[in-house]
Amino acid sequence: MQCSWKAVFLLALASIAIQYTAIRTFTTKSFHMCPSPNPVNCTLSPDTDGLDRLCEESPSTSYNLSKKIHILILATTRTGSSFGGQLFNQHSDIFYLFEPLYHVQFTLIPKPSPSKSERQVIVGASRDLLRSLYDCDLYFLENYIRPQPVNHTTDSLFRRGSSKALCSPPVCEALGSGDSPMEDGECVKKCGTLNLTLATESCKEHGHVAIKTVRVPEVKDLRALVEDPRLNLKIIQLVRDPRGILASRSETFRDPYRLWRIWKATGRKPYNLDTTQLTRICDDFLNSVSTGLNRPSWLKGKYMLVRYEDLARDPMGKTEEIYSFLGIPIDGNVERWIHNNTRGDKSSAKHKFGTLRNSAAIAESWRLTLSYEIVEFAQSVCQQVLDQLGYKMVGSVQELKNLTFSLIEEKNFLPFL
Ligand SMILES: *[C@@H]1O[C@H](CO)[C@@H](O)[C@H](O)[C@H]1NC(C)=O
Ligand SMILES: *[C@@H]1O[C@H](CO)[C@@H](O)[C@H](O)[C@H]1NC(C)=O
Ligand SMILES: *[C@@H]1O[C@H](CO)[C@@H](O)[C@H](O)[C@H]1NC(C)=O
Ligand SMILES: *[C@@H]1O[C@H](CO)[C@@H](O)[C@H](O)[C@H]1NC(C)=O
Ligand SMILES: *[C@@H]1O[C@H](CO)[C@@H](O)[C@H](O)[C@H]1NC(C)=O
Ligand SMILES: *[C@@H]1O[C@H](CO)[C@@H](O)[C@H](O)[C@H]1NC(C)=O
Repeated sequence: MQCSWKAVFLLALASIAIQYTAIRTFTTKSFHMCPSPNPVNCTLSPDTDGLDRLCEESPSTSYNLSKKIHILILATTRTGSSFGGQLFNQHSDIFYLFEPLYHVQFTLIPKPSPSKSERQVIVGASRDLLRSLYDCDLYFLENYIRPQPVNHTTDSLFRRGSSKALCSPPVCEALGSGDSPMEDGECVKKCGTLNLTLATESCKEHGHVAIKTVRVPEVKDLRALVEDPRLNLKIIQLVRDPRGILASRSETFRDPYRLWRIWKATGRKPYNLDTTQLTRICDDFLNSVSTGLNRPSWLKGKYMLVRYEDLARDPMGKTEEIYSFLGIPIDGNVERWIHNNTRGDKSSAKHKFGTLRNSAAIAESWRLTLSYEIVEFAQSVCQQVLDQLGYKMVGSVQELKNLTFSLIEEKNFLPFL
């Protein structure tokens, strides 16, 4: 009794602290509103200090924000989201964060598959965090990092090494200018403790901010951010054939997918199979894609759907489309990175989470690993979304295993402009 009372009290304290910070941030911070009639002036100016002064002196003269673009890569695990994230991480004018919402989930609901209502708790807190991060307020993240950062420094930022900006000057000086970019683990080793003050400065120096997450279920969850006049949010939703996601996850995540593997190995569907792992993917996609394709006015110019398979088939072409949608010039680093990492060059395939690999061949390889029975089951559960996204169903083992017969319909999901 006493114990649980204490827990409740502590929880209440923790949430008050978080809410307090949230409220403080919203009330004292005016985002960089641009008073200039020519807002392009505001961000293109290389003189950042001047910009801040200019923009903060009269914060309410105009609703036109700086042209800083806030990119959200909305994905789920095993949809090529690391690969997708790199397309932004490599850009020299984009400050990229890899899954900062991990900390929100880990602090609020520390378990691998939160329930529906738990996911909504995470989403609510996540929106507040995203708003702050897009404004380059990295201190806000400290509410969720465990152990709690001291003097605005931490060793515990999730996947710090996946963010180029957090591994290069001014945040980390370990790298000489001539060296090639660091690998994930190398960054953490060489750069030492992360100084969040420096990270904030780096964020402000970049023209745009991109955040990748697999922890927001669907587009509608982001509506409040899309409509926030202080933000200039653009959502890139990355989807993939759910059958491919299932195959990839059951190879990658041992425990939660154990029964799926038993089904594959024995040819018998376990009576206690937890199908929510599949239905959730398909429901989330269906909800998001239905919203996106319905073109509600609040999403105008804000949403682009990208199929992983299309990205894999033509990485450069698709990336150009994405950048053109964002209105940001693509840069040489991105082009070089794509070139280096999509040729199936095994020697460079070092990253654990598989950003680097032979992209095109991987996209449909699930057809060789999943059994026909599992595929048939997945098709019955996900019929509607397969159809919507242009993934063909197979009607026989022969069709499933015959890779010359592609299951990916030509379908161009033009952004809604
Ligand atoms: C800023 O805008 C003014 C007029 O609106 C223009 O003359 C000037 O060249 C612009 N400066 C920059 C840096 O774009
Ligand atoms: C904001 O900028 C857009 C184009 O950049 C312009 O069409 C619009 O009139 C501006 N709005 C205000 C309130 O200045
Ligand atoms: C934090 O900063 C204060 C003041 O500079 C210093 O006294 C303290 O030792 C620092 N704490 C840690 C853990 O570095
Ligand atoms: C972090 O960087 C800022 C800005 O350079 C500096 O003032 C501060 O002392 C650094 N913090 C620590 C703990 O080194
Ligand atoms: C691409 O590969 C070349 C040669 O292997 C290397 O020097 C360069 O740093 C790589 N570029 C990127 C952006 O990965
Ligand atoms: C595989 O599919 C292709 C294209 O649909 C077809 O022409 C070919 O006959 C099929 N091969 C087998 C062995 O079924």
